[in-house]
Amino acid sequence: MFTIHPKPRPRPWHPPIVANLRTTTSLPLKTRSLATKTANTLNESNESERPSAGKIKRLVLSQEGRAKLNTYPDREFYSYPRFVTHVDDGFISTLTNVYKERLRPDSEILDLMSSCVSHLPKQVVYKRVVGHGLNAQELAKNPRLNYFFVKDLNEDQKLELQSSSFDAVLCTVSVQYLQQPEKVFAEVCRVLRPGGIFIVSFSNRLFYEKAISAWRDGSAYSRVQLVVQYFQSVEGFTQPEIIRKLPVAAGSAQEEKSPFSWIMRLLGLVSGSDPFYAVIAYKNFKPVYE
Ligand SMILES: C[S@@+](CC[C@H](N)C(=O)[O-])C[C@H]1O[C@@H](n2cnc3c(N)ncnc32)[C@H](O)[C@@H]1O
Repeated sequence: MFTIHPKPRPRPWHPPIVANLRTTTSLPLKTRSLATKTANTLNESNESERPSAGKIKRLVLSQEGRAKLNTYPDREFYSYPRFVTHVDDGFISTLTNVYKERLRPDSEILDLMSSCVSHLPKQVVYKRVVGHGLNAQELAKNPRLNYFFVKDLNEDQKLELQSSSFDAVLCTVSVQYLQQPEKVFAEVCRVLRPGGIFIVSFSNRLFYEKAISAWRDGSAYSRVQLVVQYFQSVEGFTQPEIIRKLPVAAGSAQEEKSPFSWIMRLLGLVSGSDPFYAVIAYKNFKPVYE
């Protein structure tokens, strides 16, 4: 159960989302009153849910694999806002390029486990971007979100969103915190339109105590495979694609040979970049655009 919060200047559009007005958050008054107004409108919508893809075929994680070192509710951990970026510029620019290539303008996008920052390309206009996360203050600051909602996906995986209502779902540097990823991926599949894309990206950074043990104890290779398996555990996703972009390791033969790299290092202009991994799949089929 969650409350939908429109951004201070929401578009005149009624998203097919069922909102629960009983939960409130500590949003500024202006935003809260707008939230109530729009959420009332949302509740009047009688959109019916259609059965769709998203059946779980098998469970990927064992009980131990789902365990976190910090067992307090995630809401407590995210109760104060962190107005930061969680990955470096190299990672972000690679991700923004992937979005430029894979997301069509005018798409309807759900940014799962979002925060105050968006990595969507600034110059592209999307039809609507709905954000989800655990901290309302962070989400309220995110410049790309038209609406957002707060919900702990480790408590309840059901997305109160209409089936087949998004062209794309994004999950950036957060998948390691999901304790029921199979159920969340199944819900993502349900809310995607046929041909819709799910882009899960991550690096090697994490809140260690809040990551599941299967992630903490894994390697870069096994983490990619884990996300591949999350996709494969759900009926309806295409075979996942993997994108890897790894920084040239300092002192590697390739870097040593490059005169440009040598000069950059001498001038102190080279910084290490966070490794980039993305696992991507489509619902039912991968569309081909001319
Ligand atoms: C490292 S931040 C990444 C934020 C954002 N995706 C980005 O690219 O900067 C991890 C995010 O996961 C979300 N998160 C963590 N645990 C969660 C949970 N149990 N349910 C829902 N969201 C959660 C939090 O809202 C937090 O903002």
